[in-house]
Amino acid sequence: MIYFLTLKIDNKKTKVKLLILKDILDNKKDYLNKEIKLDGWVKNVRTSKNIGFIELNDGSDFKSIQIVFDNSLENYNNIKKITIGSSISIVGDLIKSLNDNQEFEIKAKSINIICKNNEDYPLQKKRHTLEYLRNIAHLRPRTNTFKAIFRIRSITSYAIHKFFNDSGFYYINTPIITTSDCEGAGEMFSVEKSKNNNKNFFGKETFLTVSGQLSAETLIYSLRNVYTFGPTFRAENSNTPRHAAEFWMIEPEMAFVDLRGCMNCAEKMLRSVVSYVLKNAKDELDFCNKFINNNIIERLENIIDSKFKIMEYTDAIEILKESKREFEYDVEWGIDLQTEHEKFLTNEFAKSPLFIVNYPKNIKAFYMRMNNDNKTVAAMDLLVPDVGEIIGGSQREERYEILLDKIKKDKLDEKDYWWYLDLRKYGSVIHSGFGMGLERLVMYLTGISNIRDVIPYPRTVNSANF
Ligand code: 4AD
Ligand code: MG
Repeated sequence: MIYFLTLKIDNKKTKVKLLILKDILDNKKDYLNKEIKLDGWVKNVRTSKNIGFIELNDGSDFKSIQIVFDNSLENYNNIKKITIGSSISIVGDLIKSLNDNQEFEIKAKSINIICKNNEDYPLQKKRHTLEYLRNIAHLRPRTNTFKAIFRIRSITSYAIHKFFNDSGFYYINTPIITTSDCEGAGEMFSVEKSKNNNKNFFGKETFLTVSGQLSAETLIYSLRNVYTFGPTFRAENSNTPRHAAEFWMIEPEMAFVDLRGCMNCAEKMLRSVVSYVLKNAKDELDFCNKFINNNIIERLENIIDSKFKIMEYTDAIEILKESKREFEYDVEWGIDLQTEHEKFLTNEFAKSPLFIVNYPKNIKAFYMRMNNDNKTVAAMDLLVPDVGEIIGGSQREERYEILLDKIKKDKLDEKDYWWYLDLRKYGSVIHSGFGMGLERLVMYLTGISNIRDVIPYPRTVNSANF
């Protein structure tokens, strides 16, 4: 993106290029010894009597550039007092740096202050804790940590769309306001009245969706492979570092695909996303590796060429029992795996991403396909070190009678699911899909350990600020 702008410098009209920093950093040789104009924010400033250095960033690149200015600037004394976070506009020449710390720098010919920061700017040079920064969620994107995280989040989202698009999936959008509880767990927020008018807007009970899966399933009968990528909401009373009340989920759904095919898709997707992010978010990952978790790059590189392990739920229970660990929650066949169990299985036992398959039917949702043993369902969860579950999926029950029976047994109202049951009457086929939490994935990619720090404005139990 290059714009030209005519400016008056030393009373002469001069045409200068208005650039974004990314262009300059990507094409340094082309811009060398040329005059450029950059707008941005002061990341740091150092001055002495006759010379000063500003680290400038304009948001287009993770890296900043050094601006050198001296007392030939008529407003030198003002610029010397510039504070971190202020917005400025500079014109200068890109030159080879005289110093070893950087290759290039800009020798300023003019610097205009757009907005000088108040002295009480909360983000001074020192490193703040993530907890403190949560209270200033409107300012925290300006720190290097959040700049890295939110850039990785964006690059990851693109990589996910790219993978599904390249693999022949159609991107679909499913309702956010819904009448049915996809997971059957009653963890839905209700949406009823308008603020102006106390009447029930839809004439019936409606909720924010907990998952787009059931609606997505209806589209595979004409588009075969589809995926959603949208916000989901859960009124779960779990105040943990990995649960949010509002999060983003990616949900592919595939016709003629069984549980094994579904796991293959999840594995391929994750590998493709990780390799895209490793390539396209290098500076950001280097930063995370240095300041957040020194293990992440190695861990991500490792998953590119290793097959993910697969373990039966029943075997996982045996392994947990044999571990002789003192878990807070007792281990026995039939329990839902807790974070501590998942952590043991991935961090210590498998030391890699791990699929757990064939869970007891009683702890999983009604739509999962019953296995021949009548005790387990064709479910899979993908667990990764540190984060635990990032993907949950299954083969779907495609047999009408068995599905209806399960809906009744789970005490769901079959009237709410008439259209879902219809799919089992008209052209029913085996099919499967999964859901991946975007925030959980970003936690895995960045090494961040609290979900509140991978979404700009987190919503959790008792907290919906900003
Ligand atoms: O395992 P879950 O509940 O599965 C479903 O919702 C299925 N309908 C998905 C499908 O088969 N289409 O959720 C899927 C993923 C989890 O593995 C986790 O990554 C994420 O969504 N997730 C959450 N992320 C943040 N906060 C929460 N409260 C989450 N609940 C689930
Ligand atoms: Mg799950």
